[in-house]
Amino acid sequence: MKIDLTINGAAHSFEVHPGTLLMELLRKEGVFSVKHGCETGECGTCTVLIDGCSINSCIYLAAQAHGKSIVTVEGLGTPEKMHPIQAAFVETGAVQCGYCTPAMVLASHELLSQNLEPTEADVRDALSGQLCRCTGYVKPVEAVMLAARRMKEGGHREEGLSDHREIDDSPGRRQASLR
Ligand code: FES
Ligand code: FES
Repeated sequence: MKIDLTINGAAHSFEVHPGTLLMELLRKEGVFSVKHGCETGECGTCTVLIDGCSINSCIYLAAQAHGKSIVTVEGLGTPEKMHPIQAAFVETGAVQCGYCTPAMVLASHELLSQNLEPTEADVRDALSGQLCRCTGYVKPVEAVMLAARRMKEGGHREEGLSDHREIDDSPGRRQASLR
């Protein structure tokens, strides 16, 4: 079947099997920030944003993304020009092996697109679907709080809020909880 979607702002058309997972498609296309972890929707490492809402792409069919806009961490910033969330993760030492980091950054993006004054509890809730094997959560939480402060002070607004609730109950919605 043919699907049309946008990946990090670029339009694409693909021929896919109806059972192809979005994670498989993205990695086949070289989007390697989308990590292959548990394959069961538990660890969050395959997170992407679809129309601004985070989903686990290992339990989301590529066909479900037809007509939608996908953002991965490659679409947020570059090493030369990092998104404030990415910069805060680096600055606070929230990155160790980095395996969970793209997903954490995207989950943080989802939160900050709605709320630039999150409480620590809000941040922990936003990151609750992301399992970090290395750092624990102190540094990532610190990073998100720092990014929120800077984005608020700088008048930075994230996009995607208006599309949020449309796919809030999608099958790939994050499921793991650390709270
Ligand atoms: S690979 Fe673990 S949630 Fe998708
Ligand atoms: S930094 Fe290694 S899994 Fe989170």
